[in-house]
Amino acid sequence: MFPMRHYLQFTDFTREEYDYLFKRAAILKAKLAAGELYQPLIGKVLAMIFEKSSTRTRVSFEAGMAQFGGHAMFLQSKDTQLGRGEPIEDVAKVISRMTNIVMVRTFEQSIVERFADNSLVPVINGLTNEYHPCQILADIFTYIEKNGSIEGKTVAWIGDSNNISRTWLQAAKIFNFKLNQACPRGYEMTILDGQKYGAEHFETFYDPYQAARDADIVTTDVCTSMGFERETLQRRKDFLHYKVSEKVMLQAKANAMFMHCLPAHRGEEVDPEVIDGPQSVVWDEAENRMHTQKAVIEYLLLGKVEG
Ligand code: CP
Ligand code: NVA
Repeated sequence: MFPMRHYLQFTDFTREEYDYLFKRAAILKAKLAAGELYQPLIGKVLAMIFEKSSTRTRVSFEAGMAQFGGHAMFLQSKDTQLGRGEPIEDVAKVISRMTNIVMVRTFEQSIVERFADNSLVPVINGLTNEYHPCQILADIFTYIEKNGSIEGKTVAWIGDSNNISRTWLQAAKIFNFKLNQACPRGYEMTILDGQKYGAEHFETFYDPYQAARDADIVTTDVCTSMGFERETLQRRKDFLHYKVSEKVMLQAKANAMFMHCLPAHRGEEVDPEVIDGPQSVVWDEAENRMHTQKAVIEYLLLGKVEG
C-alpha cells in the first residue's frame, strides 16, 4: 500500500512526478491510438461532482474512465443533497465509502480541500475559483509533445488573474519558465500569488504587445469566469484592449503556439483568425485533457506503472 494522495493544486506533484506523468500520458495516448485494450480499473468507480458547468472536464474524465474499464458517475450538485445544503464533509464521507476516486468542480478551493480532508479515496480538483491543475497539466503536455522541454521558455498570459493563470504561475516555478501577464490595472495577480508561487518567474505588463514579445506560448481565457457573472459588463469594458489578435501574435516568436482552455468567445478575448489559425493548438489541448488525466487517475490508484 502506498500513501493516499490527492491532486488539488499543481504544486501537489513534484517535477519528477510530472516527468513520469507526461511519459505515461504519451504511452496511454499511443495505446489508445493503436486500438489496444488497456483496462486496469475494471470494477472501479470515479464519482464526479459538478457545482459548475462543463464540457471538456466531464467528457475527458468519463471517457478516460470507460477506456480504463471503470465507471464514471456524473453528479450535479443541484440534483444531489449537496445542492440542498448537506455539509461537504458528510458528502465526502459517504461518497468515498462507495467509490474509488472522486473529482470535484466547485467554487472556493477550501471546498475541495474540506472534501479531501474527509475522503477515504483520492480527490482530484476539476476546477475551483482558484486553480485548474488538470488544465495546465494538459497544456504543458501539449507543448512538450509538439516542441520539447518548456524550461526557459516564455508564456504570455493576456487576461484575468483567475484559476488558469494562477495555475500557470504555479507551473512556472516547477518547470522553470517565465510567465508574462498582461491585464488591466486592478486585475493583476496578487503579491501573495507571486511570492508563494515564484515571483522570479513572473512579470506584469499593462500592454499585451509587450507581454507577448518573443513568447513561445500566447494564451488567454474568458475575462469573466464561472461564478463571477455579476461582473460581466464591467469586465467586458475593462478587458477591451486585452484580446489576442493577429497583431499580438506577431510580437511572439514565429513558431509560438496559441493556447486556450476553452470555452472561447471569438471576438472577445481572442480573434477568430488566431484561435482558428495555424498557430492554435486548442483542440490538442482539449483532447490531451483525457490522456493526461488518465495518467493521474492511474498514478493515484495504482502508483507508477510499467508498460
Ligand atoms: N477547459 C475546461 O475545463 O472546460 P470545461 O469547462 O468544458 O470542462
Ligand atoms: N476561467 C474559466 C475556465 C473555464 C474552463 C472559468 O473558471 O470559468
